[in-house]
Amino acid sequence: MSSTGTEPILQVQDLVKHFPVQLGVVFKRTVGHVRAVDGVSFDLRRGETLGVVGESGCGKSTLAQVLMRLEPPTAGAVRFHGEDIFGKRGKDLKALRRQIQIVLQDPYTSLNPRMTVGDIVGEPFEIHTEVAPKGERRRKVQELLDVVGLNPEHINRYPHQFSGGQRQRIGIARALALRPEVIICDEPVSALDVSIQAQVMNLLGDLQTEFGLSYIFIAHDLSVVRHLSDRVAVMYLGKIVELGTEDEIYNRAAHPYTQALLSAVPVPDPSVRAGRQRIRLTGDVPSPVNPPSGCRFRTRCWKATEICAEEEPALEVRQGGHHPSACHHAEEQHLLPG
Ligand SMILES: Nc1ncnc2c1ncn2[C@@H]1O[C@H](COP(=O)(O)OP(=O)(O)OP(=O)(O)O)[C@@H](O)[C@H]1O
Ligand code: SF4
Ligand SMILES: [Mg+2]
Repeated sequence: MSSTGTEPILQVQDLVKHFPVQLGVVFKRTVGHVRAVDGVSFDLRRGETLGVVGESGCGKSTLAQVLMRLEPPTAGAVRFHGEDIFGKRGKDLKALRRQIQIVLQDPYTSLNPRMTVGDIVGEPFEIHTEVAPKGERRRKVQELLDVVGLNPEHINRYPHQFSGGQRQRIGIARALALRPEVIICDEPVSALDVSIQAQVMNLLGDLQTEFGLSYIFIAHDLSVVRHLSDRVAVMYLGKIVELGTEDEIYNRAAHPYTQALLSAVPVPDPSVRAGRQRIRLTGDVPSPVNPPSGCRFRTRCWKATEICAEEEPALEVRQGGHHPSACHHAEEQHLLPG
Protein backbone atom coordinates (compact mmCIF):
# COMPACT_ATOMS: atom_id res chain seq x y z
CA MET A 1 0.00 0.00 0.00
CA SER A 2 1.22 3.49 -0.74
CA SER A 3 0.81 6.89 0.77
CA THR A 4 -1.75 8.56 -1.45
CA GLY A 5 -2.44 12.09 -2.49
CA THR A 6 -5.96 13.41 -2.71
CA GLU A 7 -5.58 14.75 -6.23
CA PRO A 8 -7.51 12.62 -8.72
CA ILE A 9 -5.42 11.50 -11.66
CA LEU A 10 -8.36 9.75 -13.36
CA GLN A 11 -12.02 10.74 -12.99
CA VAL A 12 -14.63 8.32 -14.26
CA GLN A 13 -18.17 9.66 -14.50
CA ASP A 14 -21.33 7.70 -15.34
CA LEU A 15 -19.39 5.43 -17.69
CA VAL A 16 -21.56 3.12 -19.79
CA LYS A 17 -20.54 0.39 -22.24
CA HIS A 18 -23.27 -1.63 -23.94
CA PHE A 19 -22.58 -4.30 -26.58
CA PRO A 20 -25.30 -4.96 -29.14
CA VAL A 21 -26.76 -8.48 -29.26
CA GLN A 22 -27.31 -9.28 -32.92
CA LEU A 23 -29.33 -11.98 -34.65
CA GLY A 24 -29.26 -13.04 -38.30
CA VAL A 25 -26.40 -13.78 -40.67
CA VAL A 26 -27.08 -11.62 -43.73
CA PHE A 27 -29.58 -9.16 -42.27
CA LYS A 28 -28.27 -8.48 -38.82
CA ARG A 29 -30.82 -7.19 -36.34
CA THR A 30 -29.99 -5.80 -32.91
CA VAL A 31 -32.28 -7.56 -30.47
CA GLY A 32 -30.87 -6.22 -27.22
CA HIS A 33 -27.77 -4.98 -25.44
CA VAL A 34 -25.30 -6.53 -23.02
CA ARG A 35 -25.06 -3.88 -20.35
CA ALA A 36 -21.46 -4.73 -19.47
CA VAL A 37 -20.71 -1.43 -17.72
CA ASP A 38 -23.80 0.49 -16.74
CA GLY A 39 -23.11 3.81 -15.05
CA VAL A 40 -19.83 3.58 -13.19
CA SER A 41 -18.24 6.55 -11.39
CA PHE A 42 -15.06 6.78 -9.33
CA ASP A 43 -11.83 8.75 -8.95
CA LEU A 44 -8.36 7.29 -8.99
CA ARG A 45 -5.99 9.36 -6.87
CA ARG A 46 -2.33 9.87 -7.56
CA GLY A 47 -0.25 7.04 -6.11
CA GLU A 48 -3.18 4.96 -4.88
CA THR A 49 -4.37 1.47 -5.67
CA LEU A 50 -8.06 1.08 -6.32
CA GLY A 51 -9.15 -2.56 -6.19
CA VAL A 52 -12.07 -3.51 -8.45
CA VAL A 53 -13.70 -6.75 -7.37
CA GLY A 54 -16.67 -8.78 -8.59
CA GLU A 55 -17.73 -12.13 -10.04
CA SER A 56 -17.03 -13.23 -13.59
CA GLY A 57 -18.98 -11.21 -16.16
CA CYS A 58 -19.68 -8.16 -13.98
CA GLY A 59 -17.86 -5.86 -16.41
CA LYS A 60 -14.38 -5.49 -14.93
CA SER A 61 -12.41 -6.16 -18.13
CA THR A 62 -14.82 -4.09 -20.21
CA LEU A 63 -14.20 -1.18 -17.84
CA ALA A 64 -10.45 -1.68 -18.30
CA GLN A 65 -10.78 -1.81 -22.10
CA VAL A 66 -12.77 1.43 -22.20
CA LEU A 67 -10.29 3.19 -19.89
CA MET A 68 -7.47 2.02 -22.18
CA ARG A 69 -9.37 3.49 -25.16
CA LEU A 70 -9.49 0.03 -26.75
CA GLU A 71 -13.31 0.14 -26.81
CA PRO A 72 -15.39 3.28 -27.36
CA PRO A 73 -17.80 4.14 -24.53
CA THR A 74 -21.57 4.15 -25.01
CA ALA A 75 -21.88 7.14 -22.68
CA GLY A 76 -20.10 8.89 -19.85
CA ALA A 77 -16.85 10.74 -19.34
CA VAL A 78 -13.31 9.90 -18.28
CA ARG A 79 -10.80 12.63 -17.45
CA PHE A 80 -7.06 12.11 -17.10
CA HIS A 81 -5.45 15.07 -15.31
CA GLY A 82 -8.72 16.90 -15.95
CA GLU A 83 -8.72 16.29 -19.73
CA ASP A 84 -11.38 14.27 -21.55
CA ILE A 85 -9.69 11.09 -22.84
CA PHE A 86 -12.32 10.23 -25.45
CA GLY A 87 -11.80 13.51 -27.33
CA LYS A 88 -8.08 12.87 -27.81
CA ARG A 89 -6.74 12.21 -31.31
CA GLY A 90 -3.36 12.06 -33.06
CA LYS A 91 -0.37 13.00 -30.95
CA ASP A 92 -2.51 13.75 -27.88
CA LEU A 93 -3.90 10.21 -28.01
CA LYS A 94 -0.39 8.82 -28.48
CA ALA A 95 0.78 10.73 -25.41
CA LEU A 96 -2.20 9.39 -23.43
CA ARG A 97 -1.38 5.83 -24.48
CA ARG A 98 2.06 6.23 -22.93
CA GLN A 99 0.56 7.26 -19.63
CA ILE A 100 -1.97 4.46 -19.09
CA GLN A 101 -0.75 0.88 -19.45
CA ILE A 102 -2.29 -2.53 -18.79
CA VAL A 103 -1.07 -5.85 -17.38
CA LEU A 104 -3.25 -8.80 -18.36
CA GLN A 105 -4.17 -12.01 -16.62
CA ASP A 106 -2.62 -14.69 -18.72
CA PRO A 107 1.02 -13.92 -19.37
CA TYR A 108 1.29 -16.81 -21.83
CA THR A 109 -1.38 -15.76 -24.28
CA SER A 110 -0.64 -12.06 -23.89
CA LEU A 111 3.02 -12.55 -24.90
CA ASN A 112 3.94 -13.38 -28.49
CA PRO A 113 5.71 -16.79 -28.30
CA ARG A 114 7.83 -16.05 -31.37
CA MET A 115 9.32 -12.84 -30.01
CA THR A 116 12.29 -12.72 -27.65
CA VAL A 117 11.83 -11.13 -24.27
CA GLY A 118 13.95 -8.23 -25.44
CA ASP A 119 11.63 -7.62 -28.39
CA ILE A 120 8.50 -7.96 -26.24
CA VAL A 121 9.62 -5.57 -23.54
CA GLY A 122 11.14 -3.16 -26.07
CA GLU A 123 8.19 -3.19 -28.48
CA PRO A 124 6.58 -0.03 -27.02
CA PHE A 125 9.77 1.86 -27.94
CA GLU A 126 9.11 1.12 -31.62
CA ILE A 127 6.01 3.32 -31.47
CA HIS A 128 7.22 5.78 -28.86
CA THR A 129 10.69 6.31 -30.29
CA GLU A 130 11.14 9.48 -28.23
CA VAL A 131 11.39 7.43 -25.00
CA ALA A 132 14.38 5.35 -26.12
CA PRO A 133 16.48 6.15 -29.18
CA LYS A 134 17.44 3.03 -31.11
CA GLY A 135 20.99 2.78 -29.76
CA GLU A 136 19.76 2.85 -26.18
CA ARG A 137 16.97 0.30 -26.42
CA ARG A 138 18.88 -2.83 -25.46
CA ARG A 139 20.29 -1.17 -22.36
CA LYS A 140 16.82 0.16 -21.41
CA VAL A 141 15.25 -3.28 -21.82
CA GLN A 142 17.95 -4.88 -19.67
CA GLU A 143 17.36 -2.22 -17.04
CA LEU A 144 13.63 -3.03 -17.09
CA LEU A 145 14.30 -6.76 -16.73
CA ASP A 146 16.48 -6.00 -13.73
CA VAL A 147 13.80 -3.75 -12.17
CA VAL A 148 11.22 -6.57 -12.29
CA GLY A 149 13.65 -9.14 -10.88
CA LEU A 150 14.61 -10.98 -14.09
CA ASN A 151 18.14 -11.68 -15.24
CA PRO A 152 19.09 -9.01 -17.83
CA GLU A 153 21.24 -11.63 -19.57
CA HIS A 154 18.08 -13.53 -20.50
CA ILE A 155 17.10 -10.81 -22.98
CA ASN A 156 17.35 -13.19 -25.96
CA ARG A 157 15.19 -15.95 -24.48
CA TYR A 158 11.62 -16.77 -25.53
CA PRO A 159 8.51 -16.71 -23.29
CA HIS A 160 8.33 -20.54 -23.05
CA GLN A 161 11.73 -20.56 -21.38
CA PHE A 162 10.26 -18.75 -18.36
CA SER A 163 7.95 -19.88 -15.55
CA GLY A 164 4.42 -18.44 -15.14
CA GLY A 165 5.53 -15.95 -12.49
CA GLN A 166 8.51 -14.88 -14.59
CA ARG A 167 6.27 -14.39 -17.63
CA GLN A 168 4.07 -12.10 -15.59
CA ARG A 169 7.21 -10.14 -14.69
CA ILE A 170 7.89 -9.78 -18.44
CA GLY A 171 4.36 -8.37 -18.87
CA ILE A 172 5.00 -5.93 -16.03
CA ALA A 173 8.36 -4.85 -17.50
CA ARG A 174 6.63 -4.14 -20.80
CA ALA A 175 3.92 -2.10 -19.07
CA LEU A 176 6.62 -0.08 -17.30
CA ALA A 177 8.68 0.59 -20.43
CA LEU A 178 7.09 3.93 -21.26
CA ARG A 179 7.13 5.09 -17.61
CA PRO A 180 3.33 5.38 -17.31
CA GLU A 181 1.49 7.11 -14.49
CA VAL A 182 -1.36 4.59 -14.33
CA ILE A 183 -1.26 0.80 -14.71
CA ILE A 184 -4.48 -1.18 -14.98
CA CYS A 185 -3.86 -4.69 -13.68
CA ASP A 186 -6.59 -7.00 -15.02
CA GLU A 187 -6.34 -10.08 -12.80
CA PRO A 188 -2.54 -10.22 -13.14
CA VAL A 189 -2.08 -13.01 -10.58
CA SER A 190 -5.26 -15.08 -11.02
CA ALA A 191 -3.52 -17.69 -13.19
CA LEU A 192 -0.54 -18.10 -10.82
CA ASP A 193 0.12 -20.41 -7.87
CA VAL A 194 -0.59 -18.82 -4.49
CA SER A 195 3.10 -18.61 -3.49
CA ILE A 196 3.98 -16.92 -6.79
CA GLN A 197 0.97 -14.58 -6.47
CA ALA A 198 2.47 -13.08 -3.32
CA GLN A 199 5.81 -12.46 -5.04
CA VAL A 200 4.19 -10.69 -7.99
CA MET A 201 1.97 -8.63 -5.66
CA ASN A 202 5.04 -7.60 -3.66
CA LEU A 203 6.82 -6.62 -6.86
CA LEU A 204 3.84 -4.47 -7.92
CA GLY A 205 3.85 -2.83 -4.47
CA ASP A 206 7.59 -2.07 -4.69
CA LEU A 207 7.27 -0.66 -8.22
CA GLN A 208 4.41 1.57 -7.11
CA THR A 209 6.59 3.12 -4.41
CA GLU A 210 9.61 3.41 -6.68
CA PHE A 211 7.84 4.97 -9.65
CA GLY A 212 4.86 6.71 -7.98
CA LEU A 213 2.37 4.61 -9.95
CA SER A 214 -1.40 4.62 -9.57
CA TYR A 215 -3.05 1.22 -9.98
CA ILE A 216 -6.50 -0.03 -10.85
CA PHE A 217 -6.28 -3.60 -9.65
CA ILE A 218 -8.96 -5.98 -10.90
CA ALA A 219 -9.69 -9.29 -9.15
CA HIS A 220 -12.42 -11.87 -8.62
CA ASP A 221 -12.20 -12.02 -4.88
CA LEU A 222 -11.56 -9.64 -2.04
CA SER A 223 -8.63 -11.51 -0.52
CA VAL A 224 -6.30 -10.92 -3.48
CA VAL A 225 -6.54 -7.13 -3.52
CA ARG A 226 -6.60 -6.46 0.21
CA HIS A 227 -2.93 -5.77 0.92
CA LEU A 228 -2.29 -3.64 -2.12
CA SER A 229 -5.54 -1.63 -2.17
CA ASP A 230 -6.06 1.75 -0.57
CA ARG A 231 -9.71 1.67 -1.65
CA VAL A 232 -11.92 -1.01 -3.14
CA ALA A 233 -14.90 -0.79 -5.54
CA VAL A 234 -17.20 -3.83 -5.51
CA MET A 235 -18.98 -4.44 -8.84
CA TYR A 236 -22.14 -6.40 -9.58
CA LEU A 237 -23.71 -6.67 -13.04
CA GLY A 238 -22.12 -3.57 -14.50
CA LYS A 239 -22.46 -1.32 -11.46
CA ILE A 240 -20.41 -0.38 -8.42
CA VAL A 241 -22.42 -1.46 -5.38
CA GLU A 242 -19.99 -0.36 -2.69
CA LEU A 243 -16.90 1.83 -2.60
CA GLY A 244 -14.69 2.42 0.41
CA THR A 245 -11.26 2.42 1.98
CA GLU A 246 -9.60 -0.87 2.76
CA ASP A 247 -10.85 -0.56 6.36
CA GLU A 248 -14.40 0.36 5.32
CA ILE A 249 -14.75 -2.56 2.94
CA TYR A 250 -13.05 -5.27 5.00
CA ASN A 251 -14.21 -4.21 8.46
CA ARG A 252 -17.47 -2.34 7.87
CA ALA A 253 -19.00 -3.66 4.66
CA ALA A 254 -22.57 -2.41 4.25
CA HIS A 255 -23.83 -4.06 1.04
CA PRO A 256 -25.10 -7.67 1.22
CA TYR A 257 -23.10 -8.60 -1.89
CA THR A 258 -19.83 -7.35 -0.36
CA GLN A 259 -20.74 -9.19 2.84
CA ALA A 260 -21.24 -12.41 0.87
CA LEU A 261 -17.86 -11.96 -0.86
CA LEU A 262 -16.20 -11.30 2.50
CA SER A 263 -17.69 -14.41 4.03
CA ALA A 264 -15.80 -16.41 1.38
CA VAL A 265 -12.41 -14.82 2.18
CA PRO A 266 -10.17 -17.55 3.64
CA VAL A 267 -9.11 -17.18 7.27
CA PRO A 268 -5.82 -18.86 8.23
CA ASP A 269 -6.68 -19.64 11.91
CA PRO A 270 -8.71 -22.92 12.04
CA SER A 271 -10.37 -22.10 15.38
CA VAL A 272 -11.67 -18.81 13.99
CA ARG A 273 -12.63 -20.48 10.72
CA ALA A 274 -14.86 -23.00 12.47
CA GLY A 275 -16.99 -20.27 14.07
CA ARG A 276 -17.52 -18.30 10.89
CA GLN A 277 -20.74 -18.08 9.03
CA ARG A 278 -20.44 -18.47 5.28
CA ILE A 279 -23.06 -16.60 3.27
CA ARG A 280 -23.81 -18.77 0.28
CA LEU A 281 -25.32 -16.93 -2.65
CA THR A 282 -28.08 -18.90 -4.28
CA GLY A 283 -29.08 -18.66 -7.92
CA ASP A 284 -27.04 -17.62 -10.90
CA VAL A 285 -25.88 -14.14 -11.80
CA PRO A 286 -28.74 -12.73 -13.93
CA SER A 287 -28.08 -11.90 -17.58
CA PRO A 288 -26.62 -8.44 -18.19
CA VAL A 289 -28.93 -8.26 -21.23
CA ASN A 290 -31.98 -8.25 -18.99
CA PRO A 291 -30.96 -7.19 -15.50
CA PRO A 292 -33.58 -7.35 -12.70
CA SER A 293 -35.65 -4.21 -12.04
CA GLY A 294 -34.72 -2.02 -9.09
CA CYS A 295 -31.69 -3.46 -7.34
CA ARG A 296 -29.82 -5.85 -9.64
CA PHE A 297 -28.76 -8.00 -6.70
CA ARG A 298 -32.30 -8.62 -5.47
CA THR A 299 -32.72 -12.07 -7.08
CA ARG A 300 -29.91 -13.38 -4.86
CA CYS A 301 -30.32 -11.14 -1.81
CA TRP A 302 -31.60 -12.50 1.52
CA LYS A 303 -32.55 -8.99 2.66
CA ALA A 304 -34.66 -8.05 -0.36
CA THR A 305 -38.04 -6.37 0.22
CA GLU A 306 -40.64 -4.81 -2.07
CA ILE A 307 -38.80 -1.54 -2.52
CA CYS A 308 -35.78 -3.43 -3.87
CA ALA A 309 -37.74 -4.49 -6.97
CA GLU A 310 -39.25 -1.04 -7.49
CA GLU A 311 -36.48 1.44 -6.88
CA GLU A 312 -32.89 1.27 -7.93
CA PRO A 313 -30.72 2.11 -4.91
CA ALA A 314 -28.22 4.93 -5.57
CA LEU A 315 -24.57 4.56 -4.61
CA GLU A 316 -24.50 6.95 -1.66
CA VAL A 317 -23.56 7.32 1.98
CA ARG A 318 -26.62 6.32 3.99
CA GLN A 319 -27.75 7.45 7.43
CA GLY A 320 -25.45 6.06 10.08
CA GLY A 321 -22.97 4.93 7.40
CA HIS A 322 -19.53 6.19 6.52
CA HIS A 323 -18.98 5.26 2.88
CA PRO A 324 -21.16 4.84 -0.23
CA SER A 325 -23.13 1.66 -0.90
CA ALA A 326 -26.07 0.98 -3.22
CA CYS A 327 -28.58 -0.77 -0.96
CA HIS A 328 -31.92 0.27 0.53
CA HIS A 329 -31.16 -1.76 3.64
CA ALA A 330 -27.42 -1.11 3.94
CA GLU A 331 -26.03 -1.96 7.34
CA GLU A 332 -22.34 -1.89 8.22
CA GLN A 333 -21.08 -5.16 9.63
CA HIS A 334 -17.81 -6.51 10.86
CA LEU A 335 -17.40 -9.93 9.27
CA LEU A 336 -13.72 -10.72 9.11
CA PRO A 337 -12.15 -11.81 12.38
CA GLY A 338 -9.32 -9.70 13.83
N1 LIG B 1 -16.99 -7.66 -27.20
C1 LIG B 1 -18.08 -8.07 -26.54
N2 LIG B 1 -19.26 -8.26 -27.17
C2 LIG B 1 -20.37 -8.65 -26.51
N3 LIG B 1 -20.41 -8.87 -25.18
C3 LIG B 1 -19.27 -8.69 -24.49
C4 LIG B 1 -18.04 -8.29 -25.11
N4 LIG B 1 -17.07 -8.20 -24.15
C5 LIG B 1 -17.67 -8.54 -23.00
N5 LIG B 1 -18.98 -8.84 -23.19
C6 LIG B 1 -19.96 -9.22 -22.15
O1 LIG B 1 -19.96 -8.19 -21.19
C7 LIG B 1 -20.12 -8.72 -19.88
C8 LIG B 1 -18.95 -8.29 -19.03
O2 LIG B 1 -17.78 -8.95 -19.47
P1 LIG B 1 -16.33 -8.66 -18.87
O3 LIG B 1 -15.37 -9.47 -19.64
O4 LIG B 1 -16.12 -7.20 -18.79
O5 LIG B 1 -16.48 -9.24 -17.39
P2 LIG B 1 -15.38 -9.51 -16.29
O6 LIG B 1 -15.91 -8.94 -15.03
O7 LIG B 1 -14.05 -9.06 -16.75
O8 LIG B 1 -15.40 -11.11 -16.16
P3 LIG B 1 -14.21 -12.13 -15.82
O9 LIG B 1 -14.06 -12.05 -14.33
O10 LIG B 1 -14.72 -13.45 -16.28
O11 LIG B 1 -12.98 -11.70 -16.54
C9 LIG B 1 -20.22 -10.22 -20.06
O12 LIG B 1 -21.59 -10.57 -20.08
C10 LIG B 1 -19.57 -10.47 -21.39
O13 LIG B 1 -20.10 -11.61 -22.00
S1 SF4 C 1 -31.31 -2.99 -2.21
FE1 SF4 C 1 -32.48 -4.73 -1.46
S2 SF4 C 1 -32.01 -6.40 -2.86
FE2 SF4 C 1 -30.47 -4.81 -3.17
S3 SF4 C 1 -28.80 -5.39 -1.87
FE3 SF4 C 1 -30.06 -4.01 -0.68
S4 SF4 C 1 -31.48 -5.32 0.44
FE4 SF4 C 1 -30.59 -6.56 -1.17
MG1 LIG D 1 -12.21 -10.02 -17.04
